[in-house]
Amino acid sequence: MPYVKTTARSRKGSAPAANKKSSKKSSGNGSSSFCGRHVMLGFLLLIVLFGVATLLLNLHVSTDRAKNLDRIQAILMDSFSNGVSTLTSASGIKDKAEEIAQQEQESGHQLAGLNCDAYGGPSPETAQEMVYWEDVHSDARHISPFKRTHGPKQYLTFEPDQGGWNNIRMSMETVLAMAYAMGRTLVLPPEQVFYLLGKHKGNAGDSQRREFSFNHFFHMESIHNEHPGLDIITMKEFLQREAMTGNLRDQQGNVVFPPRNQTDWDGKPRQPLFEFLRATGHMAIWTPEKCMAAFPTSPDPQETQKLWDIKKQVEQEHGGSFPSYEAYVGKPFPVNATAKQRMMENWAGRKTLCLYDNTLQNTQLIHFPSDHKLGARLLVHFYAFLFFEDWKQDLFMKRFVRDHVRYVDLIQCAAARVVEAVRERARTNPVVAGNNPNGDFDAFHIRRGDFQYTVTRFDAPKIYDMSKSKLHEGETIYIATDERDKAFFQPLRDKYDIVFLDDFHDVLGEDVNSNFFGMVDQLVASRSRTFFGCWFSTFTGYINRLRGYHSTHDKAPGYEKGIHNSWYYALEDRYDHLQTYYPVKQSYYAREFPTSWRLIDTGIGELE
Ligand SMILES: *[C@@H]1O[C@H](CO)[C@@H](O)[C@H](O)[C@H]1NC(C)=O
Ligand SMILES: *[C@@H]1O[C@H](CO)[C@@H](O)[C@H](O)[C@H]1NC(C)=O
Repeated sequence: MPYVKTTARSRKGSAPAANKKSSKKSSGNGSSSFCGRHVMLGFLLLIVLFGVATLLLNLHVSTDRAKNLDRIQAILMDSFSNGVSTLTSASGIKDKAEEIAQQEQESGHQLAGLNCDAYGGPSPETAQEMVYWEDVHSDARHISPFKRTHGPKQYLTFEPDQGGWNNIRMSMETVLAMAYAMGRTLVLPPEQVFYLLGKHKGNAGDSQRREFSFNHFFHMESIHNEHPGLDIITMKEFLQREAMTGNLRDQQGNVVFPPRNQTDWDGKPRQPLFEFLRATGHMAIWTPEKCMAAFPTSPDPQETQKLWDIKKQVEQEHGGSFPSYEAYVGKPFPVNATAKQRMMENWAGRKTLCLYDNTLQNTQLIHFPSDHKLGARLLVHFYAFLFFEDWKQDLFMKRFVRDHVRYVDLIQCAAARVVEAVRERARTNPVVAGNNPNGDFDAFHIRRGDFQYTVTRFDAPKIYDMSKSKLHEGETIYIATDERDKAFFQPLRDKYDIVFLDDFHDVLGEDVNSNFFGMVDQLVASRSRTFFGCWFSTFTGYINRLRGYHSTHDKAPGYEKGIHNSWYYALEDRYDHLQTYYPVKQSYYAREFPTSWRLIDTGIGELE
């Protein structure tokens, strides 16, 4: 089906981002200077590590293997494999792109729109095609019904997830959404541990940053500034403000102080701090596979009871358990359906509710551990886990993540330049003989590398067979991949005009940190006409979510059913799972679900 693209989409309320450059130059070096001035700039969301042993192993292995391989491919593989993260000290390296990003943050970056003038283009008209987010003013003012207007502040602390970048993104979305829903101040973990995407060398072969906070990828400071309903602070600030003033108590009600009265945990082992938080706060062991995190409409105890009653009622009506997800395949309830209907559709085989009940509503501190042994790991899409009694709150949260938790402009603009170049190539491809004015191109994400799901390891002839009926011989196809051996793709090259990110060195420019290339790949693939991805891959998953946001935004064919022109080359029996509405089901991470994008702009402004 044709994918309608308008090159200059008019966007309601999307003022170009502020580009006032601050003349302030950072001094010093590395992360500490980048993070120094503003509260938010320092908070590393970061994330954890398999330890020094893994570091050494990774570095060793990658130096060996990367030698004869194309650099960008090597970077992609390292950036997005699971578990490359590791503990390391600050590198002290700062690049030009970071300076721009810092200036942007300091001058009050706005999340709406996209303006790439400061990043080397493309033009505003061309950049607009990356924009799937909206600037919904009434949303920005939303405040959780649980947020206290007086009395002691309430907090949410958490232990960051371990794993690859896309898993970290998933769990970050979840804690942001929970803090917002609970009206709690989100306390970021100490910044000493950096998520290491892993590459020292940039596009130009020079040294670059390789340790990151969430702030490098998402506009955390703007998220904080633009939402009166969401506060984000550092662990240090939290400990100074609440722990050292004697406001924290253990389960027996005794005032407790952090280990050694230490408030600055940056750069230090965090386990003692986490143990302190586990013992002090209400430790919430919410297992997404077993329970649905449920939020009543208001603090009124009757609302809490209503949710338990709904659950009981459904079970009574269906022989003791919820209907299987299969009952809703291709048959979603309206997004504004009753709480009961939506709970049934989103149940995903769980057993119970993790209800944000009156007891939890009254606790000062809720702490989310991350611990396999406790069954505590938030490896779930926020929307697959959080349930709101009020459908308007549910859709608000989906919009909040779409509109605000997005890759920074630096990354969006780099991708926009690549998309422009791929479209040009597709437009002038002799095979289409001038019949492709929009420069439509198709895309794959082919996940290989160290992927643990070996059942998805198809060779290229099989990938060709799986996808050929949707593609046209000779046309231009963009492949996002972590496969370093380009010979692997020869069978596809024999049929199509294949391009990779490393064919666009020049448009990517030398200012873009190569650790961002995986994210650029995702954004480029999200703009393709037809897309083929890999089941189980959270990298593919996010591309499909982005495509869902775009299709909703463009009202592209199928959008009312949550369907877009995307397929799986693996696994075979999942080939067309994106062509039918699927409700959330386990394993959540294996794919993304239409409920995160379908008709989520319904009811804007109706939230009081
Ligand atoms: C920590 O500080 C509190 C309050 O100043 C004090 O009462 C306590 O003895 C200190 N604890 C340690 C271990 O220094
Ligand atoms: C849901 O939305 C539809 C279409 O806008 C509307 O007709 C219907 O009354 C709404 N239902 C509820 C429960 O608000």
